[in-house]
Amino acid sequence: MDMYDLRGKTAVVTGAARGLGLAFAEALASAGCNIAVVDILPKPLDALYELQSKYDIIVKYYQGDITSQTQVQEIVSQVVRDFERIDININAAGVVTDQAFLTTSPENIQRTFAVNVNGSFFVAQACANAMVNRYKSEHGNVPTKNATTGTIVFIASIATHIVSSAQQISCYTASKAAVKGMVKPVAMELSRYGIRVNSLSPGYTMTDMMRDLQNRQPDLVKQFEGETLFGRIGLPQELQGAILWLCSDRASGWYTGQDLLLDGGASSWKHPVISN
Ligand SMILES: NC(=O)c1ccc[n+]([C@@H]2O[C@H](COP(=O)([O-])OP(=O)(O)OC[C@H]3O[C@@H](n4cnc5c(N)ncnc54)[C@H](O)[C@@H]3O)[C@@H](O)[C@H]2O)c1
Repeated sequence: MDMYDLRGKTAVVTGAARGLGLAFAEALASAGCNIAVVDILPKPLDALYELQSKYDIIVKYYQGDITSQTQVQEIVSQVVRDFERIDININAAGVVTDQAFLTTSPENIQRTFAVNVNGSFFVAQACANAMVNRYKSEHGNVPTKNATTGTIVFIASIATHIVSSAQQISCYTASKAAVKGMVKPVAMELSRYGIRVNSLSPGYTMTDMMRDLQNRQPDLVKQFEGETLFGRIGLPQELQGAILWLCSDRASGWYTGQDLLLDGGASSWKHPVISN
């Protein structure tokens, strides 16, 4: 039995035009999963389409803004028409702005929560409805204890576990705490349909988001490196095993309502004094 065989399944992955979302899409693609990407960028990196021939799967790209519930519902309906099913939803689209708490702007609060919280909520809700419709067509409205209908993974952050003096991101951190806050109640409500719900909290990982931050604050990555137990920050591929595990019912079928933290030990120790 291959615990990680996802052939015939479809995953909706937000934010997978690049960065962690793309790494997550590749992890699922490597197990044979078809991939539907929702991202605001006009086009994804070529690496997304290369997954099709590399793993003999189908990849479709849906450009859209997850802060619009109307757009999200239209896209998810289109995904169901295109793929006939949704089994997995990973919510990796996110934004971060470094802004001191004392001067955080209303625009930053609005945008950060609109994308990270509302957007993840809208996409997960629409995907969950598609999963529940499939459940009802297969099982009627009767709770079935052994159903494995689907999996939803929210992307939270190390920021909700430990604060780094390298950044001033109270607004982002609050938004990710809200994302993490959805996990337990949504897991409870969806369990009767055989849907598991978890979040993954990445530590500092080198992506375009991190490169943008590094351009503005050159010492940032140096400090993050000093904060992990290995003296370096993570690579997107170092999160791939975890996402594949979370999304494979045969591997993690008993895991729901939890946050999985992958941070190279950054939250496990008292960091050495960093002089600013
Ligand atoms: N990189 C890290 O160190 C790190 C650490 C902890 C958590 N995270 C989280 O992981 C996730 C992915 O981060 P990343 O580093 O890959 O960032 P990234 O900026 O490289 O990728 C984020 C993607 O989200 C998309 N996106 C942004 N707003 C959108 C919207 N309104 N609608 C649709 N798509 C939208 C972007 O176009 C982009 O492709 C984010 O939620 C981030 O908060 C990242």
